[in-house]
Order: sequence, then C-alpha cells, then structure tokens
Amino acid sequence: MHTKVRTMSSTAAFPWTDAYLLGYTPMDNTHREFVEVVDALMGADNAAFAQRLEAFRVHAETHFEQERAWMAATTFPAMACHVDEHNAVLKSVHEVQAQLAAGVAVANARGLVDALVDWFPGHADYMDAPLAQWMVRQRMGGTPIVLKRGILNTEAEQSTNDAALPG
Ligand SMILES: [Fe+2]
Ligand SMILES: [Fe+2]
Repeated sequence: MHTKVRTMSSTAAFPWTDAYLLGYTPMDNTHREFVEVVDALMGADNAAFAQRLEAFRVHAETHFEQERAWMAATTFPAMACHVDEHNAVLKSVHEVQAQLAAGVAVANARGLVDALVDWFPGHADYMDAPLAQWMVRQRMGGTPIVLKRGILNTEAEQSTNDAALPG
C-alpha cells in the first residue's frame, strides 16, 4: 500500500495512522517521531537529503536504544532477534551515509527510504507490538503486588477479595 514517491514533493508521503498505535504510550510517541522523520526524509530535495538522513540516524539510534533498554531492564524473552533487526537498519543507514560521503548521487540513496517505509509496519507488528504488551503488563502487574503485600500484612483477617485496593 505504500506508494513509491521519489519526487521532491513536500506533501506527506508516509503519514501517521493510528493503525500504528501499540498501546504503550512511550513507544507510540517514539513511533510517531519515526514516521515524522522518515516522512521528512522522503520529502527532502537533493540538497537536504543528507542532513535529513543524519536526523533519521539520530532518531533511529535513540529509538532502538530505548527499546533495547526496556527489553534489558525487564528480561524480555525475544530480545536478541529484535536487536538484530534494529542493527540491520542502522547498518544500512551507515552504508548509505558512507556512499553519499563518497559522492554517490542522492537519487541512488533514496531506495533506503522506501526500504524503511516497507520495513516499519512489519517490524511494529511482529517485534514492537509484543514488547509494548509486555511493557504494559509489567506496569499493570507490578504495582498492585506491592500494595497487596502491605494490605495482607495489616489486614490479614480481611476477605480474600484483593481486586479493589485503596490507592
Ligand atoms: Fe520501535
Ligand atoms: Fe523495534
């Protein structure tokens, strides 16, 4: 469904859609930025392309490190292949940056943008979505357990209903 836009048009060619929402707000915010930065790269004329590609590299390194840190901090089971995919994207970005620095024409570098647009939805569905659900469960599952211990220590005779806990 993604059109191959290779013109110098400034119209949004990679627009955000709420279909990308995964339910973990910090990740959704980062993904909005991903779409904005890739869209800006897609709309870049030849003179602006290298600069916007560098902006994408900065975004991608921060984005991928954020997800890696979440996975490491919570011992996420599928961390290795997720990190591998991120690293493959960064490797491609670095290669294209090196080509541009060596004088390769921008027209020959624009295929990277199409590859990013093609890559993102699948990566979001298969790798980021399980991580988003995992992070939400970590948050929702962690806090009530701590509260419940306190309640049980002081109100041991209370009913077994531990669903509605005072804040
Ligand atoms: Fe992501
Ligand atoms: Fe990811």
